[in-house]
Amino acid sequence: MITLLIATRNAHKVGEIAAILGAGFRYLKIQGDDDLPVVVEDAPTFAGNAVKKAETIARALLLRSVSRLPAAQEKFFVLADDSGLEVDALGGAPGVHSARFAALDSGADGNSTDADNNAKLLRLLADVPQARRTARFRCVLALVEVNRAVPMLAPQVFEGACEGRIDFAPRGVGGFGYDPLFIPLGQDKSFAELGESVKNGLSHRAKALAELREWFKGSGEK
Ligand code: IMP
Repeated sequence: MITLLIATRNAHKVGEIAAILGAGFRYLKIQGDDDLPVVVEDAPTFAGNAVKKAETIARALLLRSVSRLPAAQEKFFVLADDSGLEVDALGGAPGVHSARFAALDSGADGNSTDADNNAKLLRLLADVPQARRTARFRCVLALVEVNRAVPMLAPQVFEGACEGRIDFAPRGVGGFGYDPLFIPLGQDKSFAELGESVKNGLSHRAKALAELREWFKGSGEK
């Protein structure tokens, strides 16, 4: 079986990736006490950040002999997800800054709370009518094999987008991040109202993971 170490400390992302890809893989996640670096996400693109996360974690695993590496005959990959929201009326913001959108103003370190990010988004869009509230979620996945016997290759990159619009107030309790404000195209409920299984059928992450699944099939790994 193929093992995927999901290179994120965001438990929601891990849950969605595992739910979408299903039982054909074994999943590991980064634990608080892992001797793995915290990656600074300072690239100007989702792809740049996803590749940086996957390569940094894979290199750390190889160099530091972290005990989680399985036996050499097993297939082991690091999978990184960089994702975010692009709002057309804001020129594509928050984009790569989605996780710390509110903190961009305060200068605070680290990510902002979902509530603060959503409040800022609503504030900036207060005068924008429904027809101009178009937006999309983007997800870029970077996948790199970790194998002591062979040199590390450049990550495979997979992308997905989900078009929609930003509502006027948060609705629903499911999901995470901007889900209570995002209404996917063709729906009249937010991702947070639609629930996990509907979201995971049409999300940006689901589309990127469908590409990844195809790559595994084509590469003969699965
Ligand atoms: P990062 O990829 O860890 O840099 O952060 C992604 C940020 O984008 C999250 O903290 C959320 O604010 C937002 N985001 C990404 N994917 C989703 C999603 O599926 N639903 C809602 N918000 C998301």
